[in-house]
Formats: sequence, structure tokens, C-alpha cells
Amino acid sequence: MNKIALYPGSFDPFTNGHLDILERAVQMFDKIIITVAVNNKKTSFFTGEERVALIHETIKDYSWSDKVVIEQFTGLLINFARQKKANILLRGVRQISDFEYEFRMALTNRRLAPEIDTVFLMPDEQLTFISATIVKEVAEWGGDLSSFVPDNVARALRDKFKD
Ligand code: PNS
Repeated sequence: MNKIALYPGSFDPFTNGHLDILERAVQMFDKIIITVAVNNKKTSFFTGEERVALIHETIKDYSWSDKVVIEQFTGLLINFARQKKANILLRGVRQISDFEYEFRMALTNRRLAPEIDTVFLMPDEQLTFISATIVKEVAEWGGDLSSFVPDNVARALRDKFKD
């Protein structure tokens, strides 16, 4: 059986923490579908198209990039997972405070789709404090982004805040 993992998230923007999770996941799964959630009720910093393009640009030169596809989605995650024939949902967990929400989400998704399991991976401990929200705040005030996000994402953040 092909192991197809859906890696969902807002990715607003894609951080070094996300990249670390992805690098671990490509060792475990045959295909990974990075699923960029676009929620019309939630305002995002980058548009769905921008987020997809940034992830593409970040991963394009990695040897494993052909195992990864990036797609936008709106709606119920398990519907998208079934449509894509994914059998695993992948989430990164950075610290205990992430766990409560992740646990509720995983069990909700399991109730809705018992055939799909959630797998949690931990990023490198040096990256556990990184969050997209904090990264945007650092960018807003002109801080050094080099250890938080890939270079192309840092450039895109700086450009947005120039506008
Ligand atoms: O990066 P995020 O914002 O923590 O990602 C959250 C996301 C997009 C994975 C989650 O909100 C989601 O799955 N939304 C889709 C709606 C859905 O299926 N909800 C039921 C599961 S709780």
C-alpha cells in the first residue's frame, strides 16, 4: 500500500519548522501532499496562491521534492484526504501546549474518517519555538529572519512589509 500523507496547515508562512517536519516525513511516506488551508472567514497574511508558490520555491532544489505536491484546499480536511486517497494526516507538534488542540483535531478527524490516522512528528528542538505568528511580528519590525524561515520566505515577508 502506498503511504500517502496529507500535511495540512495554514503555512502563513512556511517556516524552518515546517521544512524540518517535511524532511522527516519524506523518509517515511511515499507521497506527501502539503495542503494549504484557505479559509475565507480567516484573514491570512499571504494569499493561498502566494503560500503555495513560496513552498514550491523553498523545496524545489531538494532531492526529495518530486515526492511532494502542494495544493490549496477549503472545507473539511477528511473530505480532501479521501479525494486524494491519503491514508495519513501529518502534523507537527512543537510543545505540550500544541497537544490539546492537536489531540482534539486528530480524534475529530478519526471519528469522521476512521480509516485515516494522524501521525505527529516533532521538529528539531532548536526549532520548537518558531511559529508563523511570531515570525510575522519579527518581520514587521525588521528583525533578522534567517534562522526562522527559508531565504525566499524572508524576502517575501520583507517585501510585503515594505508595501
Ligand atoms: O496551521 P494550522 O492553522 O494549525 O492548521 C489548521 C488546519 C488547517 C489543519 C485545521 O484548521 C483544519 O483541518 N481545517 C479544515 C476544517 C476541518 O476539517 N475541521 C475539522 C478538523 S478539527
